[in-house]
Amino acid sequence: MTITRLLITGGAGFIGSAVIRKLIHETDTIVANVDKLTYAGNLASLATVSDSERYSFQHVDICDAGAISEVFDRHAPHAIMHLAAESHVDRSIDGPGEFMQTNIMGTYVLLQAARAYWSALPASEKAGFRFHHVSTDEVYGSLGNKGYFTETTPYRPNSPYSASKAASDHLVRAWHKTYGLPVVISNCSNNYGPYQFPEKLIPLSIHKALAGAALPIYGKGDNVRDWLYVDDHADALLTILKKGTVGGVYNVGGENEKTNLEVVTTLCAILDDLRPRPDGKRYVQQISFVKDRPGHDKRYAIDASKLKQELNWGPRETFESGLRKTIDWYLQNDAWCEIAMQNYKGERLGVTS
Ligand code: NAD
Ligand code: TYD
Repeated sequence: MTITRLLITGGAGFIGSAVIRKLIHETDTIVANVDKLTYAGNLASLATVSDSERYSFQHVDICDAGAISEVFDRHAPHAIMHLAAESHVDRSIDGPGEFMQTNIMGTYVLLQAARAYWSALPASEKAGFRFHHVSTDEVYGSLGNKGYFTETTPYRPNSPYSASKAASDHLVRAWHKTYGLPVVISNCSNNYGPYQFPEKLIPLSIHKALAGAALPIYGKGDNVRDWLYVDDHADALLTILKKGTVGGVYNVGGENEKTNLEVVTTLCAILDDLRPRPDGKRYVQQISFVKDRPGHDKRYAIDASKLKQELNWGPRETFESGLRKTIDWYLQNDAWCEIAMQNYKGERLGVTS
């Protein structure tokens, strides 16, 4: 399938900006980026592509039905990749309302606009159109020590964030089954890499380590996540968009299960190497165990064999190489971090329950 014009929502965020940089630098695709620029959106993440004639930015809220419908008419996309969302579990505990609005109602607005636009396309273009919904493995809930999430694992979301993403996945499925909208859904594990907002575990730990502050580990640090380097995810998303089966669901994982304590101690060791503390002490001494997150999911782990077998896709980066690249990027990009930290000072979120 040829996608010349692509609409991306949430392109000023962490994963969306990685997808757009890849598309502009490595393909001929024309990209329109729809983003509300919440605290998590940062146009500095798109500095290397913003001058391209193939890139345009629309400062629009996905919940604004009129504006979204205009965007479809103006850009006449061959596909939409929907990433815009409220994405942080801890913030969803403090204030779930915005998550319901953007993640559920925003997805509904996009589905309706896409459906109206797609229905009016000539038959020759209709079959090729795609609505790619980008979701999370957190919709499946929490695993014990064994087992993996597959595409048929029942949904059991435990946080307001994952519940809102689960609801949006259901809407996308329903718009396919009921109206025939050609959709594809991908559910991915935890991403890490450059340009991630410093509220999430890895960039927050880098920021706090360099500031000489305590590195907060929730509970005992034995919760497990499956870490995927963001550029690998961007690559997987473009593969799924182009080659995925209509109505299909694909799990995307990094084959990198780590406890949070392993993640932060590895990060500390890399920082010891790249930017040793001036007093000669080790960063690991800054680790501090703090009150656990309410409803904290124990373990996420993805069985990504469908993606491998059907679309021949697997991750390239190892956790150690990806983490080193990530830390190196944060060390070189103070200016980007300063812009991001204007919206967040590193305080603990999500303990109110
Ligand atoms: P992010 O928080 O970094 O970026 C979200 C972007 O969406 C921001 O640019 C923000 O301004 C924009 N946005 C938010 N509300 C909007 C609205 N109402 N209208 C328009 N734009 C709006 O998120 P991310 O980490 O890049 O995640 C992108 C998508 O991938 C999300 O749907 C998330 O659920 C999913 N996902 C993320 C991860 C992860 O580890 N980060 C893992 C799996 C799935
Ligand atoms: P996070 O990056 O918020 O992603 P998610 O909740 O979507 O998995 O958190 C990753 C893990 O790290 C999660 O188990 C919570 C934990 N965590 C900490 O231990 N300390 C922190 O300061 C943060 C932000 C997260």
